[in-house]
Amino acid sequence: METKLQLIFTLCTLISITVFRVVGGSVQLEINGSVSEFDEFTWIFNESVSVLKYYKKYKDVTLSPRYKHRVEFNMETCSLILKNLQKTDSGLYKVKASNALQTTILCVHRLSVSDPVEAPVLTLSNSADPCNSTLTCRGHDLSVSSMCSYRTCEEKEVTSPGGVALSLSVRDSTIICNHSNPVSWKQENITFTHLFAHTGTHTHTHTVV
Ligand SMILES: *[C@@H]1O[C@H](CO)[C@@H](O)[C@H](O)[C@H]1NC(C)=O
Ligand SMILES: *[C@@H]1O[C@H](CO)[C@@H](O)[C@H](O)[C@H]1NC(C)=O
Ligand SMILES: *[C@@H]1O[C@H](CO)[C@@H](O)[C@H](O)[C@H]1NC(C)=O
Ligand SMILES: *[C@@H]1O[C@H](CO)[C@@H](O)[C@H](O)[C@H]1NC(C)=O
Ligand SMILES: *[C@@H]1O[C@H](CO)[C@@H](O)[C@H](O)[C@H]1NC(C)=O
Repeated sequence: METKLQLIFTLCTLISITVFRVVGGSVQLEINGSVSEFDEFTWIFNESVSVLKYYKKYKDVTLSPRYKHRVEFNMETCSLILKNLQKTDSGLYKVKASNALQTTILCVHRLSVSDPVEAPVLTLSNSADPCNSTLTCRGHDLSVSSMCSYRTCEEKEVTSPGGVALSLSVRDSTIICNHSNPVSWKQENITFTHLFAHTGTHTHTHTVV
């Protein structure tokens, strides 16, 4: 029994899909199985933290104090809505379901909660030579630099392991820097006309708040 449970736990971890949410947001987690087959359900976070216990026969729901005021539970479907998400809610959620004959794990999802990205900042250097200027876009710990002239800019993109990306692209006559992560994006843009309007002056910084 122990070994079989262990195996199911491992399988769940392998096949789980990651759900991305922003800090303060909410998520609905569904069970993967039939509610009618079981008598008792326990939502478990990160293998060991009990979120909620449900005894179907008595319609008895016991909520862990850690989750007070931010959980909604549906007795029909056994789905769990977690509200006011914090980064510490990131991890694996699953349900242990049992009846008189067996205890099994109904696989669920991995949750990843992150802050929205900061707005990127565009900076032009070497603007003395409009035929050869460098436009740099920074966002948190990423940055991209492109060679730009009156009409063109190299398009570039960098990504970091957490799914954070920073890209410089040109659309119509606008240079767009896009800072994104799996839950949000913010852009900063500048037109070529604007960019080279101050040719000869010092470094030009343009920020939209
Ligand atoms: C939950 O587990 C994840 C790894 O799956 C870990 O990164 C995270 O820190 C854990 N969270 C808590 C609150 O223990
Ligand atoms: C749900 O269960 C089905 C079959 O039992 C399985 O194929 C599927 O991968 C499971 N999905 C998740 C998210 O655990
Ligand atoms: C543009 O400027 C960089 C450094 O300022 C220099 O290395 C490069 O050769 C210049 N390119 C052209 C086409 O002038
Ligand atoms: C920025 O990137 C995100 C994620 O790739 C995308 O959904 C969004 O449309 C982009 N925004 C702009 C202005 O290109
Ligand atoms: C440029 O930024 C402004 C202000 O954020 C936005 O309203 C506009 O749609 C952007 N333009 C493009 C082409 O993305």
